[in-house]
Amino acid sequence: MADARPPALVELRGIVKVFPGALANAGIDLAIYPGEVLALLGENGAGKTTLMNILSGLYRPDEGEIRVVGERVVLRSPRDAIERGIGMVHQHFRLVERFTVAENVLLGSHTPRFRLSPGQVLEHVRALGARHEIALDPRAYVGDLSVGERQRVEILKVLYRGSRVLIFDEPTAVLAPPEVDSLFAGIRRIVGEGRAVVFISHKLDEVLRIATRIVVLRHGRVAGAMPRAEATPGKLATLMVGREIPSRPRVAAARGSLRLRVEDVAARGERGYLAVDGASLTVHSGEIVGVAGVAGNGQAELAETIAGIRAPLRGRVWLDEHDVTTRPAREIRERGLAFIPEDRHRQGLVPAFNVVENAILTCYARAPISRGGLLRRRPARTHARRLVEAFQIQASLETPVRALSGGNQQRLLVAREAAQEPKVLVALHPTAGLDVASTEAVHRILLELRARGVAVLLVSEHLDEVLALSDRVLVMYRGRIVHERPASHADVDEIGLYMTGVGEPP
Ligand SMILES: Nc1ncnc2c1ncn2[C@@H]1O[C@H](COP(=O)(O)OP(=O)(O)O)[C@@H](O)[C@H]1O
Ligand SMILES: [Mg+2]
Repeated sequence: MADARPPALVELRGIVKVFPGALANAGIDLAIYPGEVLALLGENGAGKTTLMNILSGLYRPDEGEIRVVGERVVLRSPRDAIERGIGMVHQHFRLVERFTVAENVLLGSHTPRFRLSPGQVLEHVRALGARHEIALDPRAYVGDLSVGERQRVEILKVLYRGSRVLIFDEPTAVLAPPEVDSLFAGIRRIVGEGRAVVFISHKLDEVLRIATRIVVLRHGRVAGAMPRAEATPGKLATLMVGREIPSRPRVAAARGSLRLRVEDVAARGERGYLAVDGASLTVHSGEIVGVAGVAGNGQAELAETIAGIRAPLRGRVWLDEHDVTTRPAREIRERGLAFIPEDRHRQGLVPAFNVVENAILTCYARAPISRGGLLRRRPARTHARRLVEAFQIQASLETPVRALSGGNQQRLLVAREAAQEPKVLVALHPTAGLDVASTEAVHRILLELRARGVAVLLVSEHLDEVLALSDRVLVMYRGRIVHERPASHADVDEIGLYMTGVGEPP
């Protein structure tokens, strides 16, 4: 049968990109055709941005090739990509605030038009905006523009350079709903002219609205592809989160007493928005409760609120029978809560300190390491050596922690928290960015703690990890726990729907 499809504008073949500790793209094939909105869908860390940074000339692939209308090309810089008709609207804008819209549109553009008079420049940019129905005053200073307007400047920039393939990296993350509508109208006009748009997103509902074809990435690979007409939320969610669920011998959990209770907690995120909006949960002694969800749905803010390093707007947190809401982090720790933070360099370890100093960071005030207010060197070293040996941390005791690999740093941090004999452990993305061996080491520690009766709250983006370790699985979406199941009755399809907001009742 004849293939009705026109030739591809761009083809990526066998693209591999390795970062220290992460195989971001593990051999990806992707073709982009004129007139299509191709959605690249996938969870955080799936490799979407990396792949498109390669196509836009920002990164060089370790393996694989790129073809532009059939011709093999090597893209050494974004300028190379722009010359080949490929432009990217980045997640974080690259504009000069004290320049006008028109100046920003022309910036770095080396076409002969650059020698236009200021009046002609304004006219050019105004005409381009009018043709694409992009409402912007070319004389306005970018510093005075809203986020949605800045995005339009980026789009004009890419259009001005004559791009035939426009890549949008999570463009709706910064927009209010009415701005999303106008962005989508703009995207439809762009592909109506025979250009192609690559729309990167981890949001199912948006992808279903705008895409004409959908490619799902997972763990750096293409997990599946289909035309929009064949896509359903269930199919996409399953491809996004995967089906491989490692099994572990599951001892019927002898669930103990209630250790941690969180009731109707709300908290703001870094940028002031309501990140946690009425989350409730419980964790009992001897169980691991896993919180699944796409990162950015309030998991980090919830964990930090429990640990006392973020103040809640409302709600209560109990450790055993003690109400610890708004108590200082130090007091919460002393009452038996250990915390593995997301950013081990800023919150967990002191990079300039050596292994011994980091090993005792959260227990230096206790016997036998401290006596009469004095730090005792020998017990401190003994304690550190025990951790290093038990958890196979590759480092000498005097090494500054910044010199350790990411995996060894995380082993040290998790081992230190486990050694405190906590009643409750809150672990926030404890294996993010780790290699397989370190991931397994961390898993072993969590399971050991569970066996010793610790109540473990595990927050992870990796659904397979949550399912492999947890006794109960919760799903967090937009600041709330929207789903709960015993792990024995957890259904990947169902969880995927809740993770992406489709499972939530209207
Ligand atoms: N510059 C970088 N250095 C090291 N690791 C990186 C870099 N960029 C991305 N990664 C890693 O590569 C993987 C894929 O990331 P990314 O392409 O940003 O995913 P996505 O855009 O799908 O969220 C992740 O594990 C991420 O931590
Ligand atoms: Mg990304």
